[in-house]
Amino acid sequence: MNLPDMQSAKSRNKERVEFIYSTPIVNNEFNGKKYFIRTYGCQMNVHDSEEIAGLLENIGFESVESEEVADIIILNTCAIRENAHDKVFGFLGRCKHLKELKPDIKIIVCGCMAQEKSVVDEIMSKHKYIDLVFGTHNIHELPNYLMNLTGGLNIEVKSNEGNVFEIGENFKRDSKYVAWVNIMYGCDKFCTYCIVPYTRGKERSRKSKDILKEVECLKMKGYKEVTLLGQNVNAYGNDLEDDLNFAALLEAVAKTGIERIRFVTSHPWNFTDEMIDIIAKYDNIMPYIHLPLQSGSDRILKLMGRRYTKAEYLSLYEKLKSKIKNVAITTDIIVGFPNETEEDFNETLSVVEECKYDGAFTFIYSPREGTPAAKMEDSIPMNVKEERLQKLNEIVNKYSNMNNQKYLNTKQKVLLVGTSEKDNNKLYGYTETMKLVNVDCDKNLVGNIVDVTITEAKSFSLDGIVE
Ligand code: SAH
Ligand code: SF4
Ligand code: F3S
Repeated sequence: MNLPDMQSAKSRNKERVEFIYSTPIVNNEFNGKKYFIRTYGCQMNVHDSEEIAGLLENIGFESVESEEVADIIILNTCAIRENAHDKVFGFLGRCKHLKELKPDIKIIVCGCMAQEKSVVDEIMSKHKYIDLVFGTHNIHELPNYLMNLTGGLNIEVKSNEGNVFEIGENFKRDSKYVAWVNIMYGCDKFCTYCIVPYTRGKERSRKSKDILKEVECLKMKGYKEVTLLGQNVNAYGNDLEDDLNFAALLEAVAKTGIERIRFVTSHPWNFTDEMIDIIAKYDNIMPYIHLPLQSGSDRILKLMGRRYTKAEYLSLYEKLKSKIKNVAITTDIIVGFPNETEEDFNETLSVVEECKYDGAFTFIYSPREGTPAAKMEDSIPMNVKEERLQKLNEIVNKYSNMNNQKYLNTKQKVLLVGTSEKDNNKLYGYTETMKLVNVDCDKNLVGNIVDVTITEAKSFSLDGIVE
């Protein structure tokens, strides 16, 4: 077993791209076998699950909607907060029960939790019914692992010294209209609270020509939208010699002519003017930016290792608002970082009042083993943190609703992506600014960008009609 070390990995990615276009394996061992994947966590994990599904279907597996009827159950896990851990082990309890009834079922754990030494130790001591654990750096090896599974617990967790694996179009994408495109892996920012640099390794960018080829291919297949994925897309290309930076990559993707381009996440630090100009210049780069604040207090931002001050954040925010027409901005905020005072918290509220975000994901700080913040003493009781979260959410929701009200009776371009979960007679889709709209229209319009008149605005969604 090779667990990743918890050291900062600063060496750079050289020519270490490996192309792994899996040829269908001539082996009918898995033909017709059923797989079920449960995915936790961020877009990166969602996209990794698309890769896992693609790899499994290449070797004969078929997907099923319930773990009860599956031959293999895969849990693609997230380690960002403690509750993610609890959810996974809760679901594993159910899997264990299933395995008692059907001993041939294989239970597999992968994703960010698999990169945590403490989790692997816990599995080895208390969850021996699990068949395979593999990490975030060797997903492409899953077919081999399955073919070579021995009885008992198999652990295949690796660190990554800089490889980028190109797997071609071996994804089973969830949508026919919108696609995730990895542009880089890992994170070198080491924010003091965050586990991601340890679970995903150091920053490794894909070559721009491989990214552009993927976007061209998606466009040819009829995809309308791509979202470029990275933990901090601003850092794209820093580890490559003679390749594009993020602004230039964005421009090159815009020039492919694909109808909609989005990207997540941009760190407020090193969000360059060049990037802003490119976003403003191209109509197919969507006016929507997720700009995590985390805290509005300079003291806490410093303890978090975020590399910007409240004033710098606000000045970037103003620049984005003034240069990009109708831009919508959302954010992430953590409350209850160790020893966050009432004054620190009020600084956060003041930024929220000033920015009037379109939306925000808000979290109570959760200590993650192995991160610097987990060693900081913390005298703030949980009930105080909960009260702060509630107060913050009230303000966030107020502005989210206020921003949505501005859409009432306007016409918006909406990419319709599927049938609305709440009302099967409606389709749902997203405005250019990433507002969710439930639309009363002909179901055949799915997959199209249509003009929608907004008839109702709620806090978290809009309703509309096609005239
Ligand atoms: N790379 C992205 C964030 C990825 S994690 C960025 O830097 O913006 C998504 C969000 O989870 C973070 O923005 C942060 O708000 C939250 N988060 C990360 N670690 C956390 C922790 N230990 N406790 C609580 N929230 C956390
Ligand atoms: Fe975590 Fe910070 Fe990296 Fe985002 S930028 S993934 S918060 S370390
Ligand atoms: Fe979670 Fe890993 Fe994403 S920790 S948030 S799944 S990068």
